[in-house]
Amino acid sequence: MSTAALPEALGAAARQFVAGPESGHGLLIGSQRIAAADGATFQTLDPSNGMPIATVAQAGPHDVDRAVAVAREAFQSGPWATMPALERGRLIGALADAVAEHAEELAQIESLDNGKPVKLAQFVDVAGTVAHLRYFAGWPTKIEGAVLPVMAPNMHCYTRREPVGVCAQIVPWNFPLLMAAWKIAPALAAGCTIVLKPAEQTPLSALRLGELALEVGFPPGVLNVLTGDGATGAALVEHPDVDKVAFTGSTAVGREIGGKAGAALKRVTLELGGKSPNIILPDADVEAAAKGAFQAIYFNSGQACNAGSRLFVPAERFEEVTGVLAERAAKARLGAGLDPETQLGPLVSAEQQQRVLAYIESGLQEGASLLTGGEAALGESGGYFVAPTLFASTSDELRICREEIFGPVLVATPYDTLEEVARRANDSDYGLAAGVWTRDLGSAHRLAAMLRAGSVYVNCWAASDPAAPFGGFKASGVGREHGHVGLDSYLETKTVWAAL
Ligand code: NAI
Ligand code: MG
Repeated sequence: MSTAALPEALGAAARQFVAGPESGHGLLIGSQRIAAADGATFQTLDPSNGMPIATVAQAGPHDVDRAVAVAREAFQSGPWATMPALERGRLIGALADAVAEHAEELAQIESLDNGKPVKLAQFVDVAGTVAHLRYFAGWPTKIEGAVLPVMAPNMHCYTRREPVGVCAQIVPWNFPLLMAAWKIAPALAAGCTIVLKPAEQTPLSALRLGELALEVGFPPGVLNVLTGDGATGAALVEHPDVDKVAFTGSTAVGREIGGKAGAALKRVTLELGGKSPNIILPDADVEAAAKGAFQAIYFNSGQACNAGSRLFVPAERFEEVTGVLAERAAKARLGAGLDPETQLGPLVSAEQQQRVLAYIESGLQEGASLLTGGEAALGESGGYFVAPTLFASTSDELRICREEIFGPVLVATPYDTLEEVARRANDSDYGLAAGVWTRDLGSAHRLAAMLRAGSVYVNCWAASDPAAPFGGFKASGVGREHGHVGLDSYLETKTVWAAL
C-alpha cells in the first residue's frame, strides 16, 4: 500500500508504521510479524473520509492455535517463567517509557485509525497507557502470599499467588491502545502471557504496542497480537489452552463470552456497555454541571462505555440547562481527528454511524423532542460524522432511554424529587457509572450510596486512575479492572500444607 493516500498531517514515524510492509501488517506471534496462515487480510479505514489506510492480516483458527501455543510455551519455560519479579516490573516500566517516547507517533496512529481528535489521543489514550503501565510496573514485587494460623499443630500452611496462565484479551475500537494497556498491564505484572486481539476497526496501535514490547526486551511469546474480527475473538475464547478471557465490548458479545467461559470454567472478566445517568441536583453550579454533562456525553463522540447518556435535570431548571447544552452542541467543531481544531471526530465506522442514526430515528418516532442535531454531518467528507444530538423526553421507556447508543446522543429528562431520580436512574439493565452534580455534601453521598453503578462521579465525570477500580454492576460487566482488584483477576491462590 502506498503512503501517498495517507493524510498530510501524519508525522514521519506514524506514516512509516501505518504504511507498513508491501505485504501489509502481519500478526505478531512470538518475535515475528507474519501473514495469516491462509493469507487472509482486511483493510482498516480512516473514519474521517472512509478511505483505506492499511491492509492487515486476518487471523484464522490456525493462527489462533499457533499464538496460544507460543504464549503457553513462554508461560511455562524460557526467561519469562523464571524472571525475578523486580525484572518483570522493570520491563513493564521500560514499556511505559517506550510508549511515552513514541507518544506523538502513537497518538497520530490512533487518531487516524479511530478518528478521535489527536489531542484527546495524546492526553487521554497515550497518557493513560503510560500511567497504567507505570502503575502496574510497581506491582510484581508486591504480590505476596500469607502464612496462615491453621488449627493443626506442626503444620506449615501458606499461600502463593501465581499467574493464571495464558490470557486471551479482546478489546474494542473506542480507546484501542488504552483498552489494550488496561488489559496487558495487570496480566504482565502477574506473570501471565497474552494473546491480545484488537478490534477490526482499529488494529494498528496494538500492533505497535506489541512491537515496542519486543524492542524493550519482553521475551518473545509473552505478548502476541492477533488482528482479526469477531470470528478470531470467538476462536480465542473457545481455545482449550486459554486459561482466562478478558473482554471489553458490547453486552451481547459479553454474554456470549461469559457463557462460553462459564461452560469451560475459564476465568473471565467482562467490561460491557452502559446507559449511565447523570443527575443535576437543584442546588448545583449549573454552569459547571452543563459543561460536565456536555463532556460526559460528547467526549470521544459518545463512544465511551461510561458515557453520561441520560441526563436528569430538576423540572424547574430544565429549559435553562438544556438551552445551554443545545447551544454548546450546535457550536461544536466536527472534523478529522488529525485536524488540531477538531473537537468531535467521526464515529468509527459506517456501521456505527448507521446504528446511531437508527437510534435517532427511533427517538423521533417514539415521541422524543429533538432540541439539536439529529442527523449525519459533513456528508461531503465521506466520513462517518453525526451531529451532536440532544433529545428531551418525559418518558423513560423509549429505546433511546434504555439502550446503549454509543454515539453523540443525549436524552435529557426532568424530575422532581431525590428519591424519584434515584429510582429512575437505577431503572436500567446497566450499572456502569453515574454522576451527581450538587454543592450539598449530604445529598452527594446519599445518592452515591443509592446509585447501583460501578463508579459514581460527584461534580466530575469519567475521572480515572490506574489505582481506582473500574467496572460494572448488572449487565455492565463482571469483575473490576485497575488497582489491586484488577491485578487479582490475573492471579490464582495456591494453598500449601506442609506437615513438619
Ligand atoms: P463488539 O462487542 O462486537 O466488539 C468488541 C470486540 O469484540 C472486538 O474486538 C470484536 O472483534 C470482538 N468480538 C466480536 N464478536 C466476538 C465474539 N463473538 N467473540 C469474541 N470476540 C468478539 O462491539 P461492536 O460490534 O464493535 O459494537 C457494537 C456496540 O457494542 C456498540 O454500539 C456499543 O454499544 C457496544 N460497545 C461497547 C464498548 C464498551 O467499551 N463497553 C466498546 C465497543 C462497543
Ligand atoms: Mg480504522
